[in-house]
Formats: sequence, C-alpha cells, structure tokens
Amino acid sequence: MGTNQGFGKVIMFNEHFVVYGIPAIASAIDRATTSSVEPWDGKSECDEGHCGFVPGMCLVDDRPETPGYKVEKFEEQRESVNYILKAMDLDLAENPLRVKLGGDLICASGLGASAASCTAMARALSEHFDMGLDDARINEIAYQGERGYHGTPSGIDNTAATYGGMIWFIKGENKTLERLSMSQPVEIVVGNTGLTAKTTEVVADVRARKEEEPERFARIFKESEDLATYARKAIGEADIQGIGMLMDMNHELLQQIDVSCEELDLLVDIARNNGAIGAKMTGTGRGGNMIALTPGKDRQEKVARAIEAEGFEVLRTRIG
Ligand code: MEV
Repeated sequence: MGTNQGFGKVIMFNEHFVVYGIPAIASAIDRATTSSVEPWDGKSECDEGHCGFVPGMCLVDDRPETPGYKVEKFEEQRESVNYILKAMDLDLAENPLRVKLGGDLICASGLGASAASCTAMARALSEHFDMGLDDARINEIAYQGERGYHGTPSGIDNTAATYGGMIWFIKGENKTLERLSMSQPVEIVVGNTGLTAKTTEVVADVRARKEEEPERFARIFKESEDLATYARKAIGEADIQGIGMLMDMNHELLQQIDVSCEELDLLVDIARNNGAIGAKMTGTGRGGNMIALTPGKDRQEKVARAIEAEGFEVLRTRIG
C-alpha cells in the first residue's frame, strides 16, 4: 500500500510565455491531490471505479471537480497514466492495482490538477513498489504523465506540484528551478469560470498566431521577459503593490496573445473593483481560473463574496 500527494498550484506570472523559455513564477496553494495504491485481484468489478481503466488498474477518482472536468479529461487521463507506468517501467498486468485519487484540490483548469494527480500517483506507486524514488525522479515521471494532458508541457506544473512553495522556472535543456520566498504568505482569491479548457489546443493556437504575427509576438514576449525579472524583485522585497501591478500587466499581455476570455476578464474586473491589489488569469486560460492578490482576511473576504455574488465559485487560499 502506498499513499501520497501532489500540490495544487497557481501560475503567478507568464503562463504560455514559459513554453518558449521565458521565466515564469508559480506558487503552490494549500490544496493537494492524494493518491493511494493497493493490490487488486485484476478481475472483480466494483461500483466505485473504472476497472480496467488501463490493463491491470482499477481507477477510483474521488477528486472534487468543476462539473464536467473529469469526463472532459478522461481519455487524456488514460494516456497520462500509461505514460506514468511506462516511465516507471511498471506492467500492472503482473501486479494489478486499485489506484485511488482524492484530496481537497478541485479539478479545474488552472489549478494544476492534472500535474498534482501525476505527482501523487507516481509517489504512491513508488512507495507501493518500494522504489524509493527521490523528488527529482518523481518530477520527471510526473512530467511524462503531463504529456498525456498537454502534449509538450513546459514542465512548470509538475515542478510546482512536486516541490511546492514558490518557484522561478525556466524550461529547456538547462532547466532552471529556484525557490523564491516571501517574508510571509499572502491571501489570494481564486475565481473559477466553471469552463474547462484544453491546454493542448490553446497552446497550439498561441503557436499558430505567433507564426502569423512574429513581430507583434516578439514584442509581447520581450515585455513578458522583462516583467518576470521585475516580479521576482517585487516578490523578494515583499512589495505587494508592485506584485499586484505586475499581475495586472501580465494579464494584459495574456489578453494580447488571446488566451483570456470574457468570463476571465469579468472575474478580473470584479476582483479589482472590490479591492484586489492585482488580478490575472492563471494557467491555460479561455476558461479555468483567475487569481486576485488580496492581502488580509477582510480584503480577501470582500473580493471572494463579490465574485460569489455573481454566481462563480471561489477558493480562498494563500501564496508564498
Ligand atoms: C498550463 O498550466 C500552463 C501553460 O503555460 C502550458 C505549459 O506551461 O505547459 C499554458
């Protein structure tokens, strides 16, 4: 039996730009996906799970979700689990398992639910088979799992899910991962549009537009690179006003590459109008979630309630 977890995350700066080697900043949130693994006889059907989800596995997915998320991602999840098993060199036909997913991270685009489940599952399998894999190896396996959802992920989501905390991340041959710290955690509100996006499609669309308009995109990409450097400095100095202003600017750049949407822009406006210091979409976009910087419980509550009053779900959490 093995049980373990992977953290949920928000991208604070530079989703999408990170795919092209530009630095990005992500922070884990205090929500996680858990996974447990136990032997299964490989035959008996059960009511609770997908018996034979992949050969030799009964998958019981009890994670809370935005309605429709799990159905939407079902085939991607199957591909992801196959990638994980391949990376771990496991053939479950020989060792059938019941794998359970749970925890308090809501499956919704933008919160790193897929990466958190890959990390949690890889850790639980490592524990079950006594493989003793360290975080660096778990992260590599979770990256393989992410390929089932993303095609060619940058790796920021699985890295945040594996290591937690706040990270500065640059993808590539010489991948850079540095821990950032803030003097104390800061409250944020995560607002959920309720729409599930397909990361592969949105990433592919950005690539197509970048090829169509190379000069305009080069200018936007340069701005996002400069912005990451300023954001890193603002975080180091716990300059909340600076971080908020840069979040607003980052949202504008993401609008310019057309990965925001009406619902995300509405959530950003509600948050700013109710006292958020800054707000932006987070993750894939075109649905999914928005994050608002709301230091202090009172400010957080005001913003959260204003968003709820418009009929959207929110998560009150902290970064750093
Ligand atoms: C998705 O959470 C983040 C993206 O930047 C894709 C990636 O980094 O692989 C949109």
